Amino acid sequence: MVRIGILASGNGSNAQRLVDHFSRHAKAEVVLIGCDRPGAGVVQRAWDLGVPLFLFNGGQMRSGAVQRELQGQRIDLLVLAGFLRLIPADLVKAFPGRIINLHPALLPKFGGKGMFGQHVHRAVMAAGEQESGITIHFVDEHYDEGEPIAQFRCPVLPGDTPGTLAERIHALEHTYFPQVVEEIVTRLFGPIG
Ligand code: GAR
Repeated sequence: MVRIGILASGNGSNAQRLVDHFSRHAKAEVVLIGCDRPGAGVVQRAWDLGVPLFLFNGGQMRSGAVQRELQGQRIDLLVLAGFLRLIPADLVKAFPGRIINLHPALLPKFGGKGMFGQHVHRAVMAAGEQESGITIHFVDEHYDEGEPIAQFRCPVLPGDTPGTLAERIHALEHTYFPQVVEEIVTRLFGPIG
C-alpha cells in the first residue's frame, strides 16, 4: 500500500477530493492529514472522513518534529493541498522527488511567498491576464519553484471577481489534482488497482 500524507492549511476541499479518490483504489490511500491551523476547515473534514489528523505549528516544522512524524507514519508521498508554509530543506531532502504541490495559477507567474488563495487571483486580475489555471509541481526548498508536472488552463472572463475566478480554479483542481497525483503514484510506485 502506497501511504499518502497530505499537508493543508485551509478549507481542505482538495484534501477531501484526494481522500475520496484514493479510497476507491486498492494500492494507495491517504493515511494522514497534517495541518498547521487548528481552526482550518480541513480539520473538521479530516474528522468527518475518519483520516488521522496531525496538528502542528511552525516551530515543529522547523525543529524536524513534522518530518519525524511523517517518517514515523511511513509516508511514501507527501501532497500539499493548500498548504501555506515553506517546506524546510531537510524535509525536502527526506522526501526526494516525493513532495507534490498544487498552485492556483500558471507558474512561473504569480508564485512565491505570500502568493496563495485570493492573493493569487487578485494579482492575476490586476495584471489583466486573459487566462489562468493551476500548476501541479514537485516541491523544492523554494516557494513554487520545483519541477512542473502538469498545468491546466481556464479563461479569466470579463466581469470576473477574485471569487468567481477562484471557483473556476477550484473546479479545475477538483477535476485534475487527484488524477495527476494518481499518475505520480503510478510513475513512482507502479500501477495501482
Ligand atoms: C487551492 O486553490 C490551492 O491551489 C491553493 O489553496 C487552495 C486551497 O483550497 N494553494 C495555494 O495557494 C498554495 N500557494 P482548499 O483548502 O479548498 O483545498
